[in-house]
Amino acid sequence: MSDDPPQRLQPVDLRGVLHYVPQFRDQTFVIALDGSVVAHENFPNIVTDIAVLKSLAIRVILVHGIGKQLKRLAGETNTAISDAYGSGPTDEPTLKLAMRAAGEVGHLIDGRLQQNGLTSVEAGLARAVPVGLVGGIDHLQTGKLDKVDLDLLERLMGRDTVPVFGPVLFDRDGDSLRVNSDLLASELAVRLGASKLIYLTPHPGLIAGGEVHRNIPAEELDALLQKTEDGIDERLASKARHAHEALRRGVPRAHILDGRVDGCLLIEIFDKVGLGTMIHANDYQQIRSAKKRDLEALHGIIRNAARTEALRYRTRQSLEENLGHFFVYEVDGSLIGCVSLVPLDDSGVAELGAVLVQPFYQGKGVGKKLVEYSLKQAKERDYHKVIALSTQTSSFFTEVCGFTNGSVDELPPARRQAYDESGRNSRVLVKVLD
Ligand SMILES: CC(C)(COP(=O)(O)OP(=O)(O)OC[C@H]1O[C@@H](n2cnc3c(N)ncnc32)[C@H](O)[C@@H]1OP(=O)(O)O)[C@@H](O)C(=O)NCCC(=O)NCCS
Repeated sequence: MSDDPPQRLQPVDLRGVLHYVPQFRDQTFVIALDGSVVAHENFPNIVTDIAVLKSLAIRVILVHGIGKQLKRLAGETNTAISDAYGSGPTDEPTLKLAMRAAGEVGHLIDGRLQQNGLTSVEAGLARAVPVGLVGGIDHLQTGKLDKVDLDLLERLMGRDTVPVFGPVLFDRDGDSLRVNSDLLASELAVRLGASKLIYLTPHPGLIAGGEVHRNIPAEELDALLQKTEDGIDERLASKARHAHEALRRGVPRAHILDGRVDGCLLIEIFDKVGLGTMIHANDYQQIRSAKKRDLEALHGIIRNAARTEALRYRTRQSLEENLGHFFVYEVDGSLIGCVSLVPLDDSGVAELGAVLVQPFYQGKGVGKKLVEYSLKQAKERDYHKVIALSTQTSSFFTEVCGFTNGSVDELPPARRQAYDESGRNSRVLVKVLD
C-alpha cells in the first residue's frame, strides 16, 4: 500500500475552470470518438466528462467510428472487407458488417450516456449521398454528409440530451451508406458553427516527424502534412486533414487527443497547458479590407441591422464611397461581419463604427475580434485615440473591448455637428492607444 496522502481537490482547480464557464456556455463542441476509444477501458470516464461538459451548458454532439469493431467482425466472420474506415470503397459485405459494428458501438455509447443521466438521440437527423467516383474509382456504398436537420437538432440539444451520429447514414431512398467519421465530424462542426472539433484517438496527439505537436496554427498544419505525411500515421493524418478543412471553413479550434488517458477532455479544455494537439485558426486570417465585390453583401447586412436601430443605415452609395474604411470578416466565402475605421481629422483620432456580426455568428467572439483588429490597424496607422458611438451596445465596448465612457466634447467639430444633427444621442466611448 502506498503511504502517499490522498490527493485533495485544489480550490484553484475550480477557480481556473470558472474562468472558462461563461466562455463556453451554449457553445457547441463536436466530439469524434474512434471505435477503438469506445472499446477502451477509459471510455466510461470520457462519458462522465461529457456529462460534466453538459452540466456547464456546453452543447455536445458525438460522432463515432467503427474501424476496430469492423475489423474484428471481419475476422470473426472471415469476410474480406473492401475498406475499414469509410474513406475507400464500401462493397455490400463490408456495408453489412459496418451496420452491425455501428449498432454495437452506438449501443455501447447509449448505455454509458444513460448511466450518466443523459439521453442519446440519433436516427434521421442526417442524410448522406454516395461519394461516387473518386480518382476514377467507384466508391460504391461509401457516402458523405448531405443534409442535416439543423432545426430539429437545435430543438433536441436540451440539457440532458446528446445527439449521436454513427458512420452509417441513410440516403434519400432509405438505403444505407458508410461514411468516414472524421469527415462527418468535421462537416457537422462546420454546419453547426461549433467552437471546437475534438478527435479522441488512441494516440497522444498529432505525431509528425517523431514528435507530438502541441499547438499548431492552421496554416502551419498544411505545410506539416505535406512535408512529413509519410511519417504521420494515416488515421491521424485523416483527422488532421479534416480538422484543417473545418478551420478553413470557420471552426476556430480543433483538438486531437489521447482518448485512453483519464481526464483527457477536461484537461485539454480547462487546463491552459492542455494535453494533446490543438490546431487553431489564425485569429485574423478571416478579417480583411473590404473589396468592391463585397459591396452588395455589406449593404445587405447593414440594411438588415439598421432595421432594429442597432446600427445607422448607410446608403449603397455612401458605402461605395467609404469602402476603403471597412474591414470584413469572411467565413467560407461568406461575409459574416464588418467594422469601419474612419479618420475624423488630422489629429490622430479615428472613429470605429458599423461593428456588425450576422445573427447566426453572434456570441462566438467575432465582434470582439473585429474590434481588436481595427484597434491594431489604428495603431499601425499612428492614431492615438479611437472613438465609438453607440446607442445600444455601449457595454460591449466598455466591458468586452476596453473602451471607457467619454464625452461629446471629444469629437472634432465637424463630427460633433453631425452627432448633434443625428438626434441619436449615442454614448461616446473612447479607447486611447498607447
Ligand atoms: C454587438 C455585436 C457586434 C457583438 O458581436 P458578437 O460577435 O456577438 O460579440 P462577441 O461574441 O465577440 O462577444 C463577446 C462579448 O460581448 C458581449 N456582447 C455581445 N453583444 C453585446 C451587446 N449588444 N451589448 C453588450 N455586450 C454584448 C457578449 O456577451 C460577450 O461577452 P462575454 O465575452 O463576457 O461572454 C453583435 O452582437 C451585433 O452585430 N449586434 C448588432 C449590431 C450592433 O448593435 N452593433 C453595434 C453598433 S455600435
